[in-house]
Amino acid sequence: MAHDEGLAAEVRGLAAARGAVILAHNYQRAEVQDVADFVGDSLGLSREAAATDAGVIVFAGVHFMAETAKILAPDKTVVLPEGHAGCPMADMITPADLIAWKARYPGVPVVTYVNSSAQVKALTDVCCTSANAPQVVRSLGVSRVLFAPDRNLAAWVAGQVPQVEIIAWQGFCPTHDRITAAMVADAIERHPGAEVMAHPECRPEVLELADFVLSTSGMLRHAAGSSASDFIVVTECGLLHALEKAAPGKHFHQPSPAPVCPNMKLTTLEKVRDATRDLTPAVEVPEDVRRRALAAVERMVAIG
Ligand code: 13P
Ligand code: SF4
Repeated sequence: MAHDEGLAAEVRGLAAARGAVILAHNYQRAEVQDVADFVGDSLGLSREAAATDAGVIVFAGVHFMAETAKILAPDKTVVLPEGHAGCPMADMITPADLIAWKARYPGVPVVTYVNSSAQVKALTDVCCTSANAPQVVRSLGVSRVLFAPDRNLAAWVAGQVPQVEIIAWQGFCPTHDRITAAMVADAIERHPGAEVMAHPECRPEVLELADFVLSTSGMLRHAAGSSASDFIVVTECGLLHALEKAAPGKHFHQPSPAPVCPNMKLTTLEKVRDATRDLTPAVEVPEDVRRRALAAVERMVAIG
């Protein structure tokens, strides 16, 4: 659309003027992904935030992602175009919850999914994302871990790393948790022969139907490299735009209704324009919290 092209050009011009890099998560609206310098999963975006030379990071995603960028890049201005874009799963464990939980399991290390607040990360031994959770748990070399906040990711990791007892916090992603096995079975029936890729935030009975359990960028790499032409994509609908770019000519289907993360959709191209122009709303993390959270995030980034 001409209007969007003009707006996209305006955003790119402002980004150049501000010395800003625009990072976008794979679930963002198509027009927001298209204006970004880098589109990726949580792990890839953290890596970009840590590596960039830009003085400003415009983070098109949800709050914990921008906060993680600020933890890794404290000298940079990090702006979240829609300040109210949160993650309900991240809100399912508070620092007080984690302190009380840890007290019940003295000496047991805590692995926290990056979908969590900086304060929760600061109480954590090591973070993980959907791309590296089994490796992170394995790297600890212990027989028991506390895993927060996602019970579904925890259950999947438990299956991947059976030698470690995973004690799970009972949080979940509302967008992924409401996908049922019946919805996925129906998609498989409608598209026989399609490869099924599912995100590990889905319920165990959904993951049982998947051929591949992958992070969002893992799905992009898999679809581009696979000889299959059809895929059932069991994750948030924004990924389809990224998939169509990564694997042109292939066909992507979703369970019905298509899963939507309302928070990811709050960021519009207009809001990206305004945030890049005004450098607000900026994300801040108190320095003592940031330093402790950084140790857990850096430990993860070093593992891979
Ligand atoms: P990825 O790190 O796989 O992109 O997932 C982030 C997320 O919020 C999934 O709901
Ligand atoms: Fe959070 Fe789920 Fe949205 Fe990901 S899809 S940001 S886990 S609510």
